[in-house]
Amino acid sequence: MDQFLIEGGVPLLGEVATSGAKNSALPALAACLLTDEPVILQRIPPVRDIRTMQKLLEHTGARVDELAGGNVVVQASDITKPEAPYEVVKTMRASSLVLGPLVARTGRARVSLPGGCAIGARPINLHIAALEHLGARVEQSHGYIEARADDGLKGNHIVFERITVTGTEDLMMAAVLAQGETVIQNAAREPEVVDLAEMLVKMGARIEGAGTSTIRIQGVSRLYGAEHRIVPDRIEAGTFLIASAISGGELVVTGCEPAHLEALIAKLQQAGVTIADAGPGALRAKAAGHLRSVDMTTEEHPGFATDLQAQFMALMTQAEGISFITEKIFENRFMHALELCRMGADIRIEGRQAIVAGPRKLTSAQAICSDLRASASLVLAALAAEGETVIDRVYHMDRGYERFDEKLAAVGARIRRVASKQSDEKSMEAAS
Ligand code: EPZ
Repeated sequence: MDQFLIEGGVPLLGEVATSGAKNSALPALAACLLTDEPVILQRIPPVRDIRTMQKLLEHTGARVDELAGGNVVVQASDITKPEAPYEVVKTMRASSLVLGPLVARTGRARVSLPGGCAIGARPINLHIAALEHLGARVEQSHGYIEARADDGLKGNHIVFERITVTGTEDLMMAAVLAQGETVIQNAAREPEVVDLAEMLVKMGARIEGAGTSTIRIQGVSRLYGAEHRIVPDRIEAGTFLIASAISGGELVVTGCEPAHLEALIAKLQQAGVTIADAGPGALRAKAAGHLRSVDMTTEEHPGFATDLQAQFMALMTQAEGISFITEKIFENRFMHALELCRMGADIRIEGRQAIVAGPRKLTSAQAICSDLRASASLVLAALAAEGETVIDRVYHMDRGYERFDEKLAAVGARIRRVASKQSDEKSMEAAS
């Protein structure tokens, strides 16, 4: 398993560019199954989860070609195998995003149920219930769900009992080819949902209200090829803003969308971090002086993103006072706290709340990544820690951050990757 070796204490200085959003690229790739024509996607980040989704599309019979500059062409002329096998789904639960498109396009889908993961049970019961509302018959056996809609899907009025990002995306992709109107209430409002809707409309879909809690979709008989540029990754951009602050440096994050980061920016400013406009799509972040502890609760968008909670917690270990961090989205998303404590942080977990007392001097340690965003949190802490920290199982980071070590090194971080003898696939097998 690859490791990162990080020598802390170096203020980061310079510019860092944001990649395309993994969590927008994943549904966008799945949406390519909705047409037999070629779809061109720009700014697809070359990260592990994207490669997994591309392999999954090829498994169904689609053709995937990578072009220069992060562009990908997908053509699902003929879907020969409308299924997502366990071997793929167990490595990436977002594979369930092919459920809606496969049923909409072929009338069938056989998708392995995702197991849980480090941050929680991750069920897809809401995806399934929504598809049944559109007339699909869904059965479960041997760890798979089999969905069928022999007479096609029919539009309906669906109210999600709880906001789900990929559930909203899955349902949107099913409803665009359903007969009649679908109204989705209590829909997710994330920028990635809006991005998917924009792509589907370019393909000929009729969608209104994406980005609000109520999305209206008029089903059409077919969709066409299109070209779409993926939105910037707000979680990567937010991670770099925090990296700037925790290292005591000054970074300009370019190619991002500041409007997607308002909740984080507000919390960073409350904590004493200066965040300034640095031109179109660019933000400058600098920790003016002592950091102040602030309380934070994760919420669905436009609230504070759960995917930035771990990174923000690392910052709060360096802030003056007590910070109450409440995780309302996932039931087990504090794994990073244990590793941060091993580096000297003072964090107490009480149910859904982490109580962080700071500032605490962090010292280097051997640390292990447990999930994608926890990994980022450990890297950020290592930037502030005295000495050299060794972080193991960085394949978790490679799932969702493009060349994270290289981007940090380019702005002064003393970070290097030690490649393991074992292939990452073998490491992941060993670790799972
Ligand atoms: C998406 O996951 C993101 N992944 C996650 O990012 C992100 O943390 C999450 O949304 C919340 O913002 C992608 O977009 C690929 P949910 P998703 O359905 O859609 C429960 C990362 O680090 N739920 O909005 O799976 C669920 O257990 C990843 O990039 C059900 O109970 O999240 C959770 O508690 C991690 N039944 C809550 O809803 C369902 O059928 C929100 O989950 C679906 C979800």
